[in-house]
Amino acid sequence: ANALGPALLAKLCAEAGIPLIQISTDYVYDGLKGAPYLESDLANPLGAYGRTKLAGEWAALAGNPMTSVLRTAWVFSPVGKNFVRTMLAVGATRPELRVVADQHGHPTAAPDLADAIAGVLARIRQTGWRPEYRGVFHARAEQSTHWHGFAEAIFAGAAAYGGPQPKVLPIATHEYPVKAVRPADGRMDGTKLAQTFGVTLPNWQAGLARVLKALHAGG
Ligand SMILES: NC(=O)c1ccc[n+]([C@@H]2O[C@H](COP(=O)([O-])OP(=O)(O)OC[C@H]3O[C@@H](n4cnc5c(N)ncnc54)[C@H](OP(=O)(O)O)[C@@H]3O)[C@@H](O)[C@H]2O)c1
Repeated sequence: ANALGPALLAKLCAEAGIPLIQISTDYVYDGLKGAPYLESDLANPLGAYGRTKLAGEWAALAGNPMTSVLRTAWVFSPVGKNFVRTMLAVGATRPELRVVADQHGHPTAAPDLADAIAGVLARIRQTGWRPEYRGVFHARAEQSTHWHGFAEAIFAGAAAYGGPQPKVLPIATHEYPVKAVRPADGRMDGTKLAQTFGVTLPNWQAGLARVLKALHAGG
């Protein structure tokens, strides 16, 4: 799905002469840079997910000259399975949670990402396709945090709606073993998206407020 799906979509888009927006991930990076990644930095995925997503980027870019790849990160939303909903569900059943505090990234609200994609499409429609639109762009919320900081912000924000208030203990990645290795620092610079398409996402705190409000409104 990650690699062959984009390859097929790119072929169909090329045949139809229409642009393709491919959604990719910060997990194409190894997280060892120690500073926000630029699109020109080398990708070096640590796991199968990042490897197959990177293959999907290449397939999309190779299959359709009118392809923009948007790398996003840590997506959360009022619906579906995601970190915000998991924290609120687990936080309601336990007085204390242990959350990883040494992985850095950009929690990105799905509605903000959707707005950014709409902004990219609007610019393409307005100007017609331009050669500089082809390539990889970082489309992630402004500002970054770690999972522990994000969890604390979730419970602080949910307090206004009577949400659970567990204690959130910071732990290290090695204290929470999972099968897939994740990049420790997936921060990405957003300048290229802003300069090319005039699109900037709000900071993650605003995205979180938007999603918590929608969650509350949805019951
Ligand atoms: N979640 C993140 O933090 C994150 C971060 C960076 C990038 N992304 C990228 O964003 C995209 C969406 O991710 P997500 O987290 O929203 O995933 P998700 O919640 O698992 O949703 C994936 C969607 O793809 C559909 N799907 C999966 N396999 C398929 C197949 N073989 N054929 C047709 N449809 C298929 C699923 O359909 P059903 O609902 O019917 O199962 C579902 O609607 C992915 O490209 C992912 O790599 C996600």
